[in-house]
Amino acid sequence: MQVLGIDIGGSGIKGAPVETTTGELQDERFRVKTPSPSTPKAVVNAVDEVARHFSWKGPIGIGFPGVVRRGVIGTAANLDNSWEGQNAEEAIARKTGCPVVIVNDADAAGLAEVKFGGGGSEPGVVIVVTIGTGIGTAVVSNGAVVPNTELGHMFNSKGVDWELLVSEAAKKREDLKWAEWVKRLNAYLKDLCFFMNPDRIIIGGGVSRKFEKYGSDICCEVPVVPAQLRNLAGIIGAALYAEQRLGAQVPA
Ligand code: BGC
Repeated sequence: MQVLGIDIGGSGIKGAPVETTTGELQDERFRVKTPSPSTPKAVVNAVDEVARHFSWKGPIGIGFPGVVRRGVIGTAANLDNSWEGQNAEEAIARKTGCPVVIVNDADAAGLAEVKFGGGGSEPGVVIVVTIGTGIGTAVVSNGAVVPNTELGHMFNSKGVDWELLVSEAAKKREDLKWAEWVKRLNAYLKDLCFFMNPDRIIIGGGVSRKFEKYGSDICCEVPVVPAQLRNLAGIIGAALYAEQRLGAQVPA
């Protein structure tokens, strides 16, 4: 099935048509800036712009940077607060005229990595950590994603939200060198392992493209590898989720 996969991020909204049987993009990725303020109306318009760029009339899968339950937004740490409680699925379906499925962006990346990246062959628990404007997590157990885990917002021993210290945005804000940033990443991964005891950790999001800059300095009790789909995982996974939920209703 062809599904338009869209990844809503804190700085950009990116999309491309995805063939869900292979995970391949069918066209070049298109990106618009995330509007500021990132109110529901402005973001819905930006998503519509991505759909119109591809003259899209079919199903759309969207990764959203917050908790999402049955299309309704629970949290939106890096978008406008007024998203909370909004039915994003309904709003975007109304605007685009297309069937829409919305999931947490890290869960989307997790599903894509399991299906088409490095996560699928691993027995036990895999955690995909997406690091961009925020930190997202997908906990995958034997191929199934436990949704909305939000382990990027665990607190460190001083009571500080890890996202504020380890996100790509924090690295930029504090102008940290990779060597400084990776020390923080190692401390975060230690906490993550203490609480979750995964068998493997996959790093996705913006920083996954630069893994060669810090990968050899990662110190962790379990293997830590970059996402094989790099930061396209969010787009591909959002399309896969939409196929799962809409598959029965929409012709191939
Ligand atoms: C949000 C998560 C999201 C992550 C990555 C965090 O701030 O709480 O839901 O997955 O950012 O976008």
